[in-house]
Amino acid sequence: MISNAVATGRGPASRAAMVTVMLFFGSGVAQLNVTAAQAAQPAIVPLPQHMTVAGPSFTVPVLLPILARDRDEREIATFVAATLASRGVHTTLVARANGPVIRLSEGLHDSRLGVEGYRLDVDSSGVSIGANAGAGLFYGAQTLDQLLPVGNAPVVPGVHIVDWPRFRWRGIHLDVSRHFFGLGVVERYIDVAARYKLNIFHWHLTDDQGWRFPVPRYPRLTTVGGCREGSQVGGEGSTQTDGQRYCGAYTAQQIRDVVAFARRRYVTIVPEIEMPGHSVEALAAYPWLGCGTGPYRVRELWGISSQIFCPTEPTFHFIDAVLAEVARLFPGPYIHIGGDEVPKEAWATSPAVAALRHRERLHTLDAVQGYFTRRVERIARKYGRRIVGWDEILGSSVTSSAVVMAWHGEDAARKAAHHANSVVMCPDPPLYFDAYQGKPDDEPLAIGGLTTTEMVYTYEPIPGGWTGSQSQSMLGVQANLWTEYVPTASHLFYMLLPRALALAEVAWTPRALKNYDGFTRRLAPQLAHFQREGVNFRVPQVTYRLEDASVSFGEQQTEQNAIVLTTDSPAPRISLREIVPNATIHLSRDGSFPSKQSQRYSRPFTLALQPGASRRIGAVAVLPDRRTSAPSYLIVRRNPL
Ligand code: ACM
Repeated sequence: MISNAVATGRGPASRAAMVTVMLFFGSGVAQLNVTAAQAAQPAIVPLPQHMTVAGPSFTVPVLLPILARDRDEREIATFVAATLASRGVHTTLVARANGPVIRLSEGLHDSRLGVEGYRLDVDSSGVSIGANAGAGLFYGAQTLDQLLPVGNAPVVPGVHIVDWPRFRWRGIHLDVSRHFFGLGVVERYIDVAARYKLNIFHWHLTDDQGWRFPVPRYPRLTTVGGCREGSQVGGEGSTQTDGQRYCGAYTAQQIRDVVAFARRRYVTIVPEIEMPGHSVEALAAYPWLGCGTGPYRVRELWGISSQIFCPTEPTFHFIDAVLAEVARLFPGPYIHIGGDEVPKEAWATSPAVAALRHRERLHTLDAVQGYFTRRVERIARKYGRRIVGWDEILGSSVTSSAVVMAWHGEDAARKAAHHANSVVMCPDPPLYFDAYQGKPDDEPLAIGGLTTTEMVYTYEPIPGGWTGSQSQSMLGVQANLWTEYVPTASHLFYMLLPRALALAEVAWTPRALKNYDGFTRRLAPQLAHFQREGVNFRVPQVTYRLEDASVSFGEQQTEQNAIVLTTDSPAPRISLREIVPNATIHLSRDGSFPSKQSQRYSRPFTLALQPGASRRIGAVAVLPDRRTSAPSYLIVRRNPL
């Protein structure tokens, strides 16, 4: 495959200024590198560790018992029952069975599987899912869902799967400050993540543009800090706002509901309360939290505020109360305390900070942030929680129990490993899902950069040259979805999918088994699933394939956003491919802009080319609901004689 996208990263200060250079936008010339054996395999995402397709298949009867005895087994049985009900199969829960059955068994004592691994066996007598623990059973049930074809009286192929994850931390993040997403959207997001065996939901609950987490002792956090008087209009650097009041916050009960929803799917929620920066919305609610006199305003533009928490005793008191409430509502072991992008001007001129520096011998403002972070870590530990922080916390002498999120990439990861801190890789790029997925002209407004599904897929979390002991520090991998430019749920899922499925495979599947062409083939039924469920996704661009064996591939390059292929053939034969199964392809062969109105593509065609001549073709994929992919282009050039 070809991947020659070039994009700059984001500047660390405000992630605002960036220049984007893009040569090519994701339309591949597919050289199908999928073996016949791979093509015959069921389309499971993420690809399992071990899968053999052999033996008799199982014809699912219309009434099927599920054998489940303990609590976990019965709980997983409800997911399996729902999966089967959507295929017209009725199930009953039983404690004993003979005849066709789905057997769920916990407590396998198979050391290879760990807590999250499972075995799944299908033969003519039924389906058996075994695991050491509930998480493994849940993942086995997700795999079974993907094995079951759509439609009534489905037939499941005979398979034997033994599967477990590559990484323990398989995370997806959601920013609900810049735009607020209600309970239903958050739960759907978690549900999609869990289907693909992601197990961490990082909930970014507070930031300069809105505080979404209820704290009974500080009600103004949500009533004042949860509202802004307008939102930025236009792209990076714009100073215009829409003047529309924008509010959003969760209730404690809603948070409990999301926690329970996630727990049933073996997803741990990592709630984030940003500090000491990204916090002006809290200062707007309680101005005494700042170093100045205020008044402060919840930020309406994107980017970051220079007004931050002042490191005073009343502030630490406040943080204690907030983290107590976080620990009360969220049972997971982690609290994310932010720590990124801290402008320190307000500290530089503050008499309170000067007095603190004198007392604690803090020679630099960075040392003040270190002091702040250590104090907050002590509070979190009092509530039995480990802190997680963006990699800027590495300057803070936090304890080795702190988890570092390496958004700056490998150098940060090395530093974390050196300090014996666990590290989660989430580099920008390619694990920032707010970046463009194609050419900006063809995409909804985004923050900048380019992150295609293929760029996510080919990302390798373990830095080159790492030793075994460094790799011990690698907890896993996560993608972050910031929502400055993502105002609606449908846009949110557009940014998430299909990139999150590539992430899932990075996080779960052994590196040696990964294969992007194979992945795109396995993507088809996943996208069909989202269509049935009404979940939006980015329609993959049409790809091109030269069918003619006589074609000699010249150097592949890009030009005018097209793939250029050079051939000696006078009549190269070209086929087009789209991943979404029920999409139609519309083709422009005269160089004009392809659209829904362009001629419909039905079969491979040949292009007649004079020596030295070239032709440009373009295509879009159109779904039955009229959603349309971004265009992709191919230039075929015949060598001169
Ligand atoms: C970040 O993107 N500021 C963590």
